[in-house]
Amino acid sequence: MKNDRFLKACRREEVDCTPVWLMRQAGRYMKEYMEIRNKHSFLTMCKTPELAAEVTLQPVNKLGVDAAILFADILLPLEGMGIDLEFAKNEGPVIHNPVRTKADVDKIRVIEAEEATPYVMEAVRLCRKELEGRVPLIGFSGAPFTLASYMIEGSGSKTYINCKQMMWQAPEVWHALLNKIDEVIVRYLKAQIKAGAQAVQVFDSWVGTLSPRDYEEFVLPHSKYVMDNLKGEGVPVIHFANNSSTLLELVKKAGGDVIGLDWRINIDEAWKRLGYDVAVQGNLDPIALFAPPEKIGEMVKEILDRVGNRPGHIFNLGHGIQKETSVEHVIALVEAVHKYGKRNL
Ligand code: CP3
Repeated sequence: MKNDRFLKACRREEVDCTPVWLMRQAGRYMKEYMEIRNKHSFLTMCKTPELAAEVTLQPVNKLGVDAAILFADILLPLEGMGIDLEFAKNEGPVIHNPVRTKADVDKIRVIEAEEATPYVMEAVRLCRKELEGRVPLIGFSGAPFTLASYMIEGSGSKTYINCKQMMWQAPEVWHALLNKIDEVIVRYLKAQIKAGAQAVQVFDSWVGTLSPRDYEEFVLPHSKYVMDNLKGEGVPVIHFANNSSTLLELVKKAGGDVIGLDWRINIDEAWKRLGYDVAVQGNLDPIALFAPPEKIGEMVKEILDRVGNRPGHIFNLGHGIQKETSVEHVIALVEAVHKYGKRNL
C-alpha cells in the first residue's frame, strides 16, 4: 500500500498527515461522472463492474484523496431480499412493495451476498486491481435502521411515520424485520471484505430522527449485532450515524473502530464524549464547500486545530457532497487538509 495514512488513522496510529476522503466523492458534481451517467442509468452503473470501478477511481485521480470508496448504493442488497427498487428521475429511490405487516416480513429473503449482489463483489475485486495499491478501498453498507426506513416507508421520509408506527404498534414485527436485515448486512460486508475491501463503513444516514430511548430499544441491539459480527474480520469498521449528537454515547456502545461525525457538533467535544479509545471521522458541513476557497481553508484549519494532532482523526465532510458543488472547491478542501494536517515527524 503506497498511501496507508487512512488505515493508520483508523487504527489510531501516528500519520505523516491527516488523511481525507469524502462521502459521495464519486458523483454528479464531477463532469467525468456525468459523461458516463448520461449514457447509463444509475443502477446499470452499479451493476456493471467496469463502470463502477471507473467511477470509483475518478475522485482518487482528480482530487488526491487518501482512500477510494466503492461506487455502489446502500439499497442494492434489498433486491435480493425481494424488494422492488427503482431510482426514479429526480425523486431518489422508490420501493414499489414497502414492508408494513408481519406477512410482508415473512416474505423477506435472507440470501448469500455473492448470490444477490455478485456484481458488487466483482467491482471490489476490479477496484483493488485498478488501484494498484495507491490508496485503500472502503466498502460499505447501510445500517439496520436506515435500510429498514427505506423498506418500510418505500422512499426517503421526513417523518418516518410508518417506521415509528411499526416500532410502537408491533415491536415483534419490527425486530423480526431488523433481524433479517442485520444478517443480510453482515453477510454483505463479509463478502466485500473477502473480495478485497480494506475497511468498511456502515451508513446510518437517517437515524437522527429517533429519540435516544427509541434508539436504545429499537436500533442499538441491531447495529451492535452487525458491529460485533464484523469484529474478527481484520479490517477497520467505520460507524457513521448522521445527525447523532444526541445519540453519540449510544452509537459508541453499538460499536465501530471509527465513529463518523456530522457537522452539528464540534469535533473536540464529540471526541471527548466518545472517549479516546475510538478514532473519529469528520466533520465539515458539506455546504461549507459553497464558501470561497480561502474560507474553506480556514474552516478546515479550525477542525484540525480542535483535533490537535491526536492520532485517530480522518478528515471528511459531515455528510455527502451535494451535486451542485464546485470540483475546484473540493480540490481546495483536500489540499487544505494535506497542508494544515501535515505533521513534523
Ligand atoms: O460515497 C461514494 O462516492 C460512493 C457511492 C455512494 C452512493 N450512494 C452513490 C450514489 C454511497 C456511499 C451511497 C450511499 C447511500 N445511498 C446512502 C448513505 C449515504 C448518505 O448519503 O447518507 C443513502 C441514504 C443512499 C440512498 C440513495 N441513493 C439516495 C437517497 C439517492 C438519491 C440521492 C440524490 O442526491 O439524488 C441515491 C442515488 C445515488 N447514490 C447517486 C449516487 C452517485 C446519484 C445517482 C445518480 O447519478 O443519479
